[in-house]
Formats: sequence, C-alpha cells, structure tokens
Amino acid sequence: MRGLRGRVAFVTGAAQGIGRGIALRLAEEGMDVAMADVNATVVCEEAKAIAAATGARTLALPVDVCDEEAVPLAIAACVRTFGGLDALINNAGVDLNGAPDALHRSTWNRLHDVDLWGPMLVTREALQPLAARGGAVVNIASTHAIVTQPGRAAYAAAKAGVGGLTRGLALDLGPRGIRVNAVLPGYVRTPIWSLWLDEAPDPEALLEVIAAHHPMRRLGTPADVAGLVAFLCSDDASFITGASYLVDGGYTVQSHTPTL
Ligand SMILES: NC(=O)c1ccc[n+]([C@@H]2O[C@H](COP(=O)([O-])OP(=O)(O)OC[C@H]3O[C@@H](n4cnc5c(N)ncnc54)[C@H](O)[C@@H]3O)[C@@H](O)[C@H]2O)c1
Repeated sequence: MRGLRGRVAFVTGAAQGIGRGIALRLAEEGMDVAMADVNATVVCEEAKAIAAATGARTLALPVDVCDEEAVPLAIAACVRTFGGLDALINNAGVDLNGAPDALHRSTWNRLHDVDLWGPMLVTREALQPLAARGGAVVNIASTHAIVTQPGRAAYAAAKAGVGGLTRGLALDLGPRGIRVNAVLPGYVRTPIWSLWLDEAPDPEALLEVIAAHHPMRRLGTPADVAGLVAFLCSDDASFITGASYLVDGGYTVQSHTPTL
C-alpha cells in the first residue's frame, strides 16, 4: 500500500487478538510499530516476535490507555524512538457483562473508560506529532454500534460512541491535516470472546452456528481487519475521513425475519 513504508504507527491493545494482527500487518508493510498494551509481559514478547518475523522495528509500551500520566509518556517514547508518528490505531478495548438488571455503575464506567475515553485520551496526546506529519487515526469500534445482543447495551453504547467520536474528531482535526476513521469488525475470533463463549455448553457447535449466519460462511480473523486498517492509514485513503467501515463478512446485511 502507498505511503506506509518507513512511517510510524502506534497501536493500542497490541498484545493479542485484533491489535496484534494490525501491528503485524503494519510491520509487514514496512512501518515502525509502537505496540501499547496493559499486558506488559505479553506485549514485550509479541513486539520481539513481530520484529523477528518481519524485520521491522517495534517498540513495546506497557501502558493503560486510560492513564493520563502514562499515555503522554508512551507517545513521547514512540516519537523519541522512531522520530515521529504517522498513524494511531485505537484498538484497545474490553467487553464486560452488561445485563441491565444487574449492571453496576463501576462496570459501566470501566467499559466506557477503556473503550471510549481511551481512544479520546490517546488521540489527544498524539495530536502534535500526528499534525506535524499529516497523520491518520483509526478507531476500532464494532458491529455492536449498529446491531447488538441481549446483555450488551453498555458495550453497544460505548461502540456507538466511538462512531460519534470518530466523526467529531474528523471535523475538528481535518483542518490540521489529520484524518480520522472507524472500523467496525464483526465476529473475529480472539480471546475477548471468552466472556460469553466459555459459558456455552458446546462452544465449537456455537461457533459453527455463528459462522453459518454469515454470507461468507466463516468467522473473521485479525488479518481481515488489519487489511482495512492498513488501507485507511495509507496514502490510498488520502481523502477519506469521518467514515465508518464494516468488516463483518456481511453479517449485518441479513434480516433475521424468517423468509415468507
Ligand atoms: N473480537 C471481536 O469479535 C471484535 C468485534 C468487534 C470489535 N472488537 C473490538 O476490537 C478491539 C480488539 O478486540 P480483541 O477481540 O482483539 O480483544 P482481546 O481481548 O483479544 O485484545 C484486547 C487487547 O487490549 C488490551 N487492553 C485491554 N484494556 C486495555 C487498556 N486499558 N489499556 C491498554 N490495553 C488494554 C488487552 O490486554 C488485550 O491485549 C476491541 O476494541 C474490541 O472491542 C472485537
């Protein structure tokens, strides 16, 4: 993809799952990649593994994206190490059980802290280096911003909020040369699923049912999401801002009303 080689990316939640997949793809495209995650041990291991696999320069940054003291230090470390910043991928997120009868304010606050405040805070702290080089921000939202399931209202609200945040930031930051877009993944098999998959009587059978609900007849992978993220960071997306893109194998196009 045009305009990625030699540039610098900062990926949050990069220790595993979709964030790791994004870090790997951007490294394969020739970018220097700062990998930020609250899981210090795993992010250090994965940063080394991606550097070894791709030959790219990586930097592990153990950081909580909600921490107002740690986030500026992590951005500064990235800029100091790689000389600037071109692409910020706000991927770190949590999914907590949000059944309305028992939803506690602390659950709501933690979920919205990580999934909504985190992207805002990291973007705020990255503004100066991003503006200096005409950078791009990609926020990882979810299909839950559009269609959701029982017990997921808190998560759906946070991810819908990421869509509004994306549009508002695109408006504010466009004049400073910064593009801001959102990606809405559907079912991508990662450890985040353990919240609900571990409780299923037969997880493998459930996965087959979910896959069958997709026009593509399969679940998504981190690489499926990473391809779109790489495009949105590249010069090929130079006039795209404020947009939200589904990567869901067509899951959301199908009505669940039985065919008449
Ligand atoms: N997997 C899916 O099906 C799916 C679908 C739609 C959207 N998403 C979104 O994609 C993103 C990545 O999800 P995933 O499936 O890879 O999840 P995951 O749980 O596998 O990985 C999330 C990563 O974020 C890190 N993290 C969590 N809280 C953090 C914090 N406060 N600061 C820094 N790092 C933190 C975790 O340590 C972990 O490495 C999330 O925003 C999630 O909501 C996932």
